Amino acid sequence: MEPVKVGLLGLGTVGGGTVNVLTRNAAEITRRAGRGIEITHAAARDLKKARICKTGNIKLTTDPQQVVDDPEVQIIVELIGGETLAKEMVMRAIAKGKHVVTANKALIANYGNEIFAAAQARGVMVAFEAAVAGGIPIIKAVREGLAGNNIEWLAGIINGTGNFILTEMRDKGSNFADVLVEAQRLGYAEADPTFDVEGIDAAHKLSILAAIAFGIPLQFKKVYTEGITKITREDVNYAEQLGYRIKHLGIAKRTPNGIEMRVHPTLIPERRLIANVDGVMNAVLVKGDAVGPTMYYGAGAGAEATASAVVADIIDVVRMLTADPENRVPHLAFQADALSNVPILPMEEVITCYYLKMQAADKPGVLADITRILGERNISIEAMIQKEPAESFSNEERTATIIMLTHKVIEGSMNQAIREIEALDAIKGPVTRIRMEHLSR
Ligand code: NDP
Ligand code: HSE
Repeated sequence: MEPVKVGLLGLGTVGGGTVNVLTRNAAEITRRAGRGIEITHAAARDLKKARICKTGNIKLTTDPQQVVDDPEVQIIVELIGGETLAKEMVMRAIAKGKHVVTANKALIANYGNEIFAAAQARGVMVAFEAAVAGGIPIIKAVREGLAGNNIEWLAGIINGTGNFILTEMRDKGSNFADVLVEAQRLGYAEADPTFDVEGIDAAHKLSILAAIAFGIPLQFKKVYTEGITKITREDVNYAEQLGYRIKHLGIAKRTPNGIEMRVHPTLIPERRLIANVDGVMNAVLVKGDAVGPTMYYGAGAGAEATASAVVADIIDVVRMLTADPENRVPHLAFQADALSNVPILPMEEVITCYYLKMQAADKPGVLADITRILGERNISIEAMIQKEPAESFSNEERTATIIMLTHKVIEGSMNQAIREIEALDAIKGPVTRIRMEHLSR
């Protein structure tokens, strides 16, 4: 049988990795797919640029539309990134009856509902395994492997760049900005790295995971999102003294009132496996009612790790080219007409534990005021550290650092308590709040 011809949009980190993996493993891939797979046409912005892959046998263009319109190409692999051109090309490919593979989580999170409807109407596949957690086959695991479960919650380190930065800061005392530059050099970071460090990329991925886990439409705009930019080395050290690690987590949880979707730095007990996932590695914990907790671990970014997921999707498409189109696995795991409209909980209604850090004037009664404010809202304290000020400071300058861990409390009550604590004369500056998850049940 003739090889299937693939058109590639983008020859950067992931595009280059995809060419390399498809070329190196061609024989094994053909055995798995049942047919050869050949990239025949590719687009990049600058055709003179040095590439990580050989492009000798590929027709090159600077115009992605030429690739999409190429009548020989049956599968379009979108690895340009961004939302405007990528969406235009993906919709065009679908309209032309071509199958699509993409690693673009921003595109799926923002426009997936529309893209999937168009793909379903046209009877083509849109595969996006590489969009979440790089090389980890987490979409397939949740959508297919755990299909018999009621998923109760999932929590994941789903941004490689952010985890790389937190790890380097903790282990080597490196500076935030320097590690970010290194993550960019290694090809981990997004074109706009604020997506990584402000949690937007993780929120894109979380909205995709939540849709697949709970059978809800993609709702990226409802994800509560906090990045890692405010985490200091001090917070990392205090957390360690208390037996915790700070990780940037995406959490989606089914509750009786609705679904929590949140991305923020989180204290995790250091004995948990996920607390020890370091560097660019990602991990996703998924709790199903039947299977219990399961964990998926692997490289969350990088050329060939991501290409591994892209190529697996291409193979899936090639296998399905001859299969019954009515019997495909639905895009969001549940049949499109069976998605539920269970509400997404506002952040004020989320219940979790907290790490609080504050600077307090070194005088009597301050601690009593803080504990009274917390007590009035039924916020109980699990642990506390008080760091006395250095003797060299004058009486006016002397502030003690107080760190508290709390038991579970509703976010709205904690917000009120923090506002009141910050209003105390003795409290200097804002209270640092990091949410904390035990991830045990
Ligand atoms: P890169 O910036 O490395 O690659 C983008 C490619 O698209 C480049 O080859 C660029 O051309 C090409 N391109 C951009 N604009 C145009 C245009 N207007 N016309 C033609 N070609 C264009 O990005 P990545 O490979 O890192 O990321 C690609 C996608 O994969 C993104 O959606 C990203 O979020 C996602 N992703 C990335 C991961 C990673 O580890 N990097 C992991 C998982 C997903 P040129 O090279 O000439 O500039
Ligand atoms: N910038 C992303 C990350 C790439 O660092 O996780 C993988 O999606």
